[in-house]
Amino acid sequence: MKIAIAGGTGQAGSQATLVAQERGHEVVVLARSRGVNLVSGEGVVAALEGVDAVIDASGSGAKDDPTLFHESVIRSIANAKPPHLVVLSIVNCDKASDYPLYAGKLAQERAAEQSGIAYTITRTTQFHEFAAQIWRMGAVGPIHFSPRMRTQPVAVREVGARLVDLAEAGPVGRAADFGGPQEESLVEMVRAYAKASGVGRFVIPVNMGGSFGKAQRDGLLLPTADALHGFETFAEWLGRKYPQN
Ligand SMILES: NC(=O)c1ccc[n+]([C@@H]2O[C@H](COP(=O)([O-])OP(=O)(O)OC[C@H]3O[C@@H](n4cnc5c(N)ncnc54)[C@H](OP(=O)(O)O)[C@@H]3O)[C@@H](O)[C@H]2O)c1
Repeated sequence: MKIAIAGGTGQAGSQATLVAQERGHEVVVLARSRGVNLVSGEGVVAALEGVDAVIDASGSGAKDDPTLFHESVIRSIANAKPPHLVVLSIVNCDKASDYPLYAGKLAQERAAEQSGIAYTITRTTQFHEFAAQIWRMGAVGPIHFSPRMRTQPVAVREVGARLVDLAEAGPVGRAADFGGPQEESLVEMVRAYAKASGVGRFVIPVNMGGSFGKAQRDGLLLPTADALHGFETFAEWLGRKYPQN
């Protein structure tokens, strides 16, 4: 198959790219660093010539409005009329859409549904790398804050494989959610990451506001019973990434 991966240089997209290449597919990566701008549409239609499926693993940056970003990306892809669009979304993004990132993911799903393209949407939980992101984003001077959150993080390489599985399988609409093997506390994940990576250890738990913060604390962002699960635990991922500790 010829598979295009929007955001194929990112955390999830690069893993989908590796898996698709390992399975012998022809892969086209859509990213600004590859001369394709998914928001303005520059280079998209030409890059999607002859593709059998597009995986949308793109992600908005700090300066982007997530809703405008994802709606623009889907519009740019739909202009090329690919036979199948696979969208990587976030588990229960509809339960906390007062949070701009989640509003953006919901807008992405709606745009895919209304694009006229045959689609598959899969929602996944946070990646194990989320712990490192929170360590960096939660820094105020030397102090590190982490939101209280019940999460069931998943290995991003398993997410990459799931995206390729779905591209190969053909359009199904809403596919099963995909989460990690067990529930974790985000605060404890951030502490374990900081210790294992040697960057520090001291993390102060905080409550995020609004329905997003409540959803984080109350476990509303955990996958439901009918979700599929990856195998690698957060501890296994940490041990693989920092084997010396
Ligand atoms: N991180 C998580 O825990 C998590 C969990 C579940 C779902 N998700 C969702 O999965 C998606 C991917 O997440 P990620 O963490 O893998 O993202 P990421 O590492 O930030 O990667 C974003 C990708 O989008 C590309 N991109 C950004 N703006 C672009 C533009 N205007 N034109 C073309 N390409 C553009 C980037 O490439 P260039 O910079 O080269 O353009 C990069 O390849 C996101 O939508 C996120 O919401 C994330």
